[in-house]
Amino acid sequence: MKLVRCESYEDMSARAAEAIAGTVRLKPDCVLGLATGSTPLGLYEELAARYEAGELSFAAVRTVNLDEYVGLGPDHPQSYRYFMDKNLFSRVDIDPANTHLPDGLAPDPDAEAGRYEELLEALGGVDLQVLGLGHNGHIGFNEPDSVFPVRTHLTRLSDSTVRANARFFTSPQEVPRRAFTMGVGSIMRARRILLLVSGGSKAEILRDVLTGQADPRLPASALLLHRHVTVMADRDALRCLP
Ligand code: F6R
Repeated sequence: MKLVRCESYEDMSARAAEAIAGTVRLKPDCVLGLATGSTPLGLYEELAARYEAGELSFAAVRTVNLDEYVGLGPDHPQSYRYFMDKNLFSRVDIDPANTHLPDGLAPDPDAEAGRYEELLEALGGVDLQVLGLGHNGHIGFNEPDSVFPVRTHLTRLSDSTVRANARFFTSPQEVPRRAFTMGVGSIMRARRILLLVSGGSKAEILRDVLTGQADPRLPASALLLHRHVTVMADRDALRCLP
């Protein structure tokens, strides 16, 4: 595991964009695994800016997102499909047909989870997976548990995740309780992983992840067992580490 100490959120976002740009330049039809939430917003800004400057093309890139709320369709402003279209896909030259998220409105959720896992295989696996870190140590929506979930599945969000995500909704009651998420096993099959961590509120959980051992009660700790993980964290997120 490589730890990149970034000066600031902006520095972290620029370095993450450089890592993605490098992957796209080396393999123009690469498969990028993407995350939503506050953390990657700066990264997506940077990628859009590089596209606008003519430095980067996503014309052949394929993407798969980590997760999606059950019950929210693409037109719902809090759905992850809406988030990705708004913050990245509509701002670059990616082919919308090459962008994939679980379908939050799928009538048969178990079949949808199976379809998504098969899609990951059919695309040939993820070249570079971007992750954020939940305050409870989750990655994707893999919440603390007694086992590491292996495949894409339907999950129930923990109360702390519902509270954390309520900031995007008008009230906590509106936050969907269920979501599709890639499993920890799906995430671990990515060839390379980039974990982005920003802000003092993540400092303790980041320390616990980096200084502990793989334990499903702290889902991100599974990354300790992956060969090619880069953690990019800003100064505030690193303040509990030496
Ligand atoms: C989002 C996701 C989540 C977030 C995590 C951190 O697709 O899978 O695991 O990465 O909850 O969220 P932020 O960045 O909002 O702190």
